[in-house]
Amino acid sequence: MSSRITIEKIEELAKRRGFFWQSSEIYGGFGGFYDYGHLGFLLKSKFENAWRKFFLSLDDMFYEISPAVIMPEQVFQASGHLKSFQDPLCKCKKCGNIERADHIIENALKESFEGKTPKELTELIRKHNIRCPKCGGEFGEVGELNMMFPLNIGADSETKAYLRPETAQGAYVNFKRMFEILRKKLPLGLAIIGKAYRNEISPRQLLIRTREFSQAELQIFFDPEKINEHPRWEDVADYQLRLTTAKDRKKIIEMTCEDVNKKIGLPKFYVYYMAKIQQFYFNVMKIPKELFRFKELSEEEKAFYNKYHWDIELNLASLGGFKEIAGIHYRTDHDLSGHQNLSKEKMSVSIDGKKIIPHVIELSFGVDRNIYALLELAYSEERDQIILKFPRNLSPVDVAIFPLVKKDGMPEKAREVQNMLKQNFVVFYDESGSIGRRYAREDERGTAFAVTIDSQTMQDDTVTLRDRDTTVQIRVPVKELSKTINKLMHYEIDFRKAGKVVYEP
Ligand code: ATP
Ligand code: GLY
Repeated sequence: MSSRITIEKIEELAKRRGFFWQSSEIYGGFGGFYDYGHLGFLLKSKFENAWRKFFLSLDDMFYEISPAVIMPEQVFQASGHLKSFQDPLCKCKKCGNIERADHIIENALKESFEGKTPKELTELIRKHNIRCPKCGGEFGEVGELNMMFPLNIGADSETKAYLRPETAQGAYVNFKRMFEILRKKLPLGLAIIGKAYRNEISPRQLLIRTREFSQAELQIFFDPEKINEHPRWEDVADYQLRLTTAKDRKKIIEMTCEDVNKKIGLPKFYVYYMAKIQQFYFNVMKIPKELFRFKELSEEEKAFYNKYHWDIELNLASLGGFKEIAGIHYRTDHDLSGHQNLSKEKMSVSIDGKKIIPHVIELSFGVDRNIYALLELAYSEERDQIILKFPRNLSPVDVAIFPLVKKDGMPEKAREVQNMLKQNFVVFYDESGSIGRRYAREDERGTAFAVTIDSQTMQDDTVTLRDRDTTVQIRVPVKELSKTINKLMHYEIDFRKAGKVVYEP
């Protein structure tokens, strides 16, 4: 098989092993919606928990909340989504096929056209004679589609509402209450991990562009007078960020946070969180440095609510290059002021003897895009098979337990070890097939470690512990197994030093 990673290979493995597939498959599949199977769910939970642990521990005043997914029309009138959350679309005059206009031009000209007006996009389609990919027909004028899903609520269906297109609004409508409950302090961070919905014109690339997806977002409310400071600035001042500016999209530069603040002019409060996001990708997600960058969005590309807008992109070979997986946004007081104007509820707070409407920096992550990235980057073809080399701490299953044979008390002992390990880890028990087949199956599912109970275990209460990525095996006493696996999971010790090496490939 070719070693080049493709969307098709990821899809095949995802379906066969239980990561994800198109929803309502028995009815032919439902475009833009995906169901996660057991391994996909475990991987998603691991990602979400890692995200929580990392970002919520950045400040004592960061908390997670869980607001409703359906919100009334006024919320989106105030936020500007009703008026401005539009995507450009074009319809083929011959076959009626509808495409997202900027994407169809991007495919043809290999350049980004995000943020152009419908008129500009129509001109580009005409100038480059871009035709319908389905039938070769001519496209009509570019129009616009609001991406929110409308709903009518109640028995009389009279209340207009929408499925939220971002989790963020749930934090803004709850800000004032949470500020008061949490003793009126700024900065205050409200995180939400949950579903968001967008009526994407052309869902594509598996989990990358869907109509229902999960976001992990953190809204940090702060005093705008303090935007150029952060109490822990010194921790990141010399840390190098990898950036592509709007002026020069061809180059990735490395610059210290201090220089990003001084030379690019981004405020310290914003740059501090850029550093933390990069550290999350390097240290938790274990993303190779060269595959990561922040991309500055130009004036016309920025979301309508943002003053500063940088995307976080990963270079994903199956998608042909860098792809947005998250964003860091300076939303100013756009949302709180919008809600104050419409609801007439005061959003201002008293802080340091003055009355202000807090400003917001938003860290916005697409969970499913990150899951896709984890799968692609873990995917490897070695030893005549597929191996998913996830970072150990993000592997869907932590440990597989195998009795070498189904006799001599080994299955019973293996169950005992399983019961012990399952207090702290995600554990999978398997006694069917040869030991080689069982290792191979777990490698393809991305299970970080395998523990084998053999005849020696029955004598000295030690087991073999196998590392998925290298296949090296060490011998570890059962009573030290939990502690050893825990250290290995967090890369605190070298595998070969965690026990006596009994197998080297
Ligand atoms: P794109 O330009 O790719 O349409 P976007 O700029 O509209 O994305 P944002 O509005 O900034 O995306 O949303 C924040 C994050 O939510 C994105 O970085 C992405 O990870 C995720 N996201 C947005 N739209 C989708 C979608 N349709 N499917 C899956 N994830 C999405
Ligand atoms: N909350 C930011 C976004 O979804 O774009």
